[in-house]
Amino acid sequence: MARRRRIYEGKAKVLFEGPEPGTLVQYFKDDATAFNNKKQGTITGKGVINNRISEFLMTRISEIGIPTHFIRRLNMREQLVREVEIIPVEVVIRNVAAGSITKRFGMEEGTALPRSIVEYYYKSDDLNDPMISEEHITAFGWASPQEMDEIMHMSLRVNDFLCGVFLAVGIRLIDFKLEFGRWWNNEDLRLVLADEISPDNCRLWDVETNEIMDKDRFRRDMGGVEEAYQEVARRLGILLDSNSPGDMTGPSSLQ
Ligand code: TMP
Repeated sequence: MARRRRIYEGKAKVLFEGPEPGTLVQYFKDDATAFNNKKQGTITGKGVINNRISEFLMTRISEIGIPTHFIRRLNMREQLVREVEIIPVEVVIRNVAAGSITKRFGMEEGTALPRSIVEYYYKSDDLNDPMISEEHITAFGWASPQEMDEIMHMSLRVNDFLCGVFLAVGIRLIDFKLEFGRWWNNEDLRLVLADEISPDNCRLWDVETNEIMDKDRFRRDMGGVEEAYQEVARRLGILLDSNSPGDMTGPSSLQ
């Protein structure tokens, strides 16, 4: 494989220069972190599964008219995406209380929220991703008021849509995190959904049993992490080629 320029390495993914200008290759690692990198580990095969799950969900989302950075999957661990300018805001959408909101407001995990709640966090590992309001975002110039209107509107549409996609396969979408980017399409500037959507950044519970099927299994040392990710993929109808174990672990394109 030809050597490619590494543009950025995050906790779960690596971005390489793409084959054409304006594109990047997004490589999914098996590395898992939690609590802003304080807990580190490996979930064998996670990169392969998240590549497929994110491909599936981004494709379905683009089919309802929400633009995304996703172009196409290249292989087991890589997808071609548009090069975008990431807005440094993590958008969290919650349907049911779990995780940090339960601690912040002393709520019991599993409590249905009166309506879907959208929260914003500043994307900064150094500052531990502090929660912010739209005031901070617009005052500090991270996004314009018009962009924030669009982000809120797109996030709620994605939430409604994904709730249905998951419910159809017996999974409750408790909460999830989205990232957005600015994409220059010739002269045209568009806001697009970026990053990934996978059990790494969603909370997914079985409708019948409330069994946890996401990264909380890793965060809370519950075991069965790989199996849970596999089960999400299986229920979504994503077939994983179990005959190519080499691809499950080999970071073929890493330099
Ligand atoms: P929280 O309850 O820890 O605030 O997380 C809410 C949702 O956002 C949950 O589905 C996990 C996801 N998330 C990320 O994807 N990245 C992060 O850095 C954090 C803190 C949460």
